[in-house]
Amino acid sequence: MRKPFVAGNWKMNKTGEEARLLVAELLPELQSITAVERAVCPPFPYLVSLSNMLAGTGIGLGAQNMHWEASGAFTGEVAPKMVAEFCQYVILGHSERRAYFFETDETVNKKVKAALAVGLTPILCVGETLAENEAGRTAEVVTRQTRLGLEGLTPEQAARVVIAYEPVWAIGTGRAATSEQAQAVHAGVVRPVLRELFGEPVAQAIRIQYGGSVNAKNAAELFSMPDIDGALVGGASLKAPDFIAIVKAAAARG
Ligand code: PGA
Repeated sequence: MRKPFVAGNWKMNKTGEEARLLVAELLPELQSITAVERAVCPPFPYLVSLSNMLAGTGIGLGAQNMHWEASGAFTGEVAPKMVAEFCQYVILGHSERRAYFFETDETVNKKVKAALAVGLTPILCVGETLAENEAGRTAEVVTRQTRLGLEGLTPEQAARVVIAYEPVWAIGTGRAATSEQAQAVHAGVVRPVLRELFGEPVAQAIRIQYGGSVNAKNAAELFSMPDIDGALVGGASLKAPDFIAIVKAAAARG
């Protein structure tokens, strides 16, 4: 059985004070929900103070990006070891990074390897755009992103990765994929690629989150699907009651 994993992607939101308030609100409720792996991914400047707040709570902390090089002349970048000092997770290859910051399958793959090398759990994001979806290219795009993102990994390394399927047309639009649509991609596209690359046991062990307009209302229906192993939550992770409700829905997954 795969343990459900719900992570909050705060993106570029919250002041430092708001960030600490949100975590303080989440803590009492989320600490006890141990059947679900749960984490928050705030902006870089808040990682230090939030890691102190979260220490020993069982709630994880993640960054939203990092560079693949260990150190050096890369102005404005953050190295894997710097992230690993405070975090357990790192979101990699989010569609906003691919679209606005020109990340490619190749650089995302370098980041996945660098994250694993320092003991971070990479959350590798894949997903097709609206145009690709409408052109019937979903399987092709998701297959390519998954395959190239994980290229060169051993099965042991791959087993430590989390995949987030996030159709770009569903992100921040209020128009989530239906549970059937997401299940079809998770079970019909992503997991078969994992099986082909790493074998059946590893393919079965890897968590595949769904992301894109997940909210307190649609979470339970999404989590009722056998291959939707949690969620990467954007907008709804910025409000404590909503994020708590989504984690509770994952805990109730039958
Ligand atoms: P959303 O974002 O939940 O606001 O759609 C999800 C994401 O981009 O990870």
